[in-house]
Amino acid sequence: MWRFALASLALAACQRSSVEAIDPAMPSARAPTEKQLARGAYVARISGCTVCHATTRPGQIETFDTLGGGAEDTLASGETYRAPNISSDRETGVGAWLPEQIVAAVRTGTRPDGARLLSAMPYREFHRMTDADAYAVAAYLRSQVPVWNVMKRNDRREVHGPALPPPIGNIDPDDAPGHGRYLAALMHCGSCHTAPDGPAFAGGKELRLVDGGEIVAPNITSDADTGIGAWTEAQIIAAVRTMTKPDGSPIEGPMARYAGAWALLSDADARALAAYVKSLRPVRTDGEQVIESVSSRP
Ligand code: HEC
Ligand code: HEC
Repeated sequence: MWRFALASLALAACQRSSVEAIDPAMPSARAPTEKQLARGAYVARISGCTVCHATTRPGQIETFDTLGGGAEDTLASGETYRAPNISSDRETGVGAWLPEQIVAAVRTGTRPDGARLLSAMPYREFHRMTDADAYAVAAYLRSQVPVWNVMKRNDRREVHGPALPPPIGNIDPDDAPGHGRYLAALMHCGSCHTAPDGPAFAGGKELRLVDGGEIVAPNITSDADTGIGAWTEAQIIAAVRTMTKPDGSPIEGPMARYAGAWALLSDADARALAAYVKSLRPVRTDGEQVIESVSSRP
């Protein structure tokens, strides 16, 4: 992975020196390779960028993969916020941001003006994203159509959590459990399946449904009774890729928004993710995980 990153840096340097005039507004513009764009598209989809930031205008259906933002969501606190426009539009999107500014927003939740993003943007999980993947996502965003979609900034009233975990640098491609852990970070399973101050992946977090109801995220640790310890890897893969539980019933609520994106998870990545989920230390939860209302898929 390091070698790849270094090679692409060297390549970018060559490409840059061969360009005569560089747009001063984009000093770090580098011509991305096809491979980098394909990787960026894949990472942007499985990480949910194209889900949360899909173009949504009042009265209009979401347009998957166009990144114009606008989808509203409500926090457990009741505060409503909208996903901003991250398309390449220079005025209303992030078309004028440098790749490193996009990477900083993704991995540290910091905007170019220094403001911290709401944790509804799962930057704490994305903090683990490798340089190669983060720059591939930035290149992908910049390669997509500009969408003109003006929206008001969200009110920022959030106490920021503890310091970010140490970055992991780059992944050893032969480290299978590490790879599954990495995918779980990109797909931010913990952002829903971990309650504030609760044990990782043990569920209990209250999430809002589009109809105003609530759903409590289940325990996905390997506890046999209160978690999913009895599930096979194939059943975990089906849950993530097809939103189907072992009894054939659908996974509903906020996770189902990722259905289109996570159906694209490669076989190897799905296996690594499932192996990692199976390896989660069992945590027994006693609290009742009551689903108060699941009316329809959002
Ligand atoms: C779970 C939903 C969700 C996912 C997944 C998500 N975002 Fe966000 N993102 C948000 C929200 C909400 C905000 C606004 C936060 C705020 O206003 O403080 C945001 C803010 C941003 C911003 C700052 C934009 C601005 O104008 O301030 C960027 C850039 C961004 N996201 C990029 C990404 C990328 C790239 C990905 C995928 C790697 C991604 N986001 C995934 C919800 C999400
Ligand atoms: C946006 C929030 C959200 C994200 C992100 C999320 N989940 Fe879920 N997940 C839920 C909710 C809510 C349910 C309960 C849905 C239901 O019962 O219909 C659920 C259900 C499940 C189930 C079924 C558990 C059971 O006991 O029925 C599994 C397995 C699961 N998630 C695994 C994952 C994995 C693995 C990831 C990351 C790749 C993930 N989830 C990401 C919210 C989320």
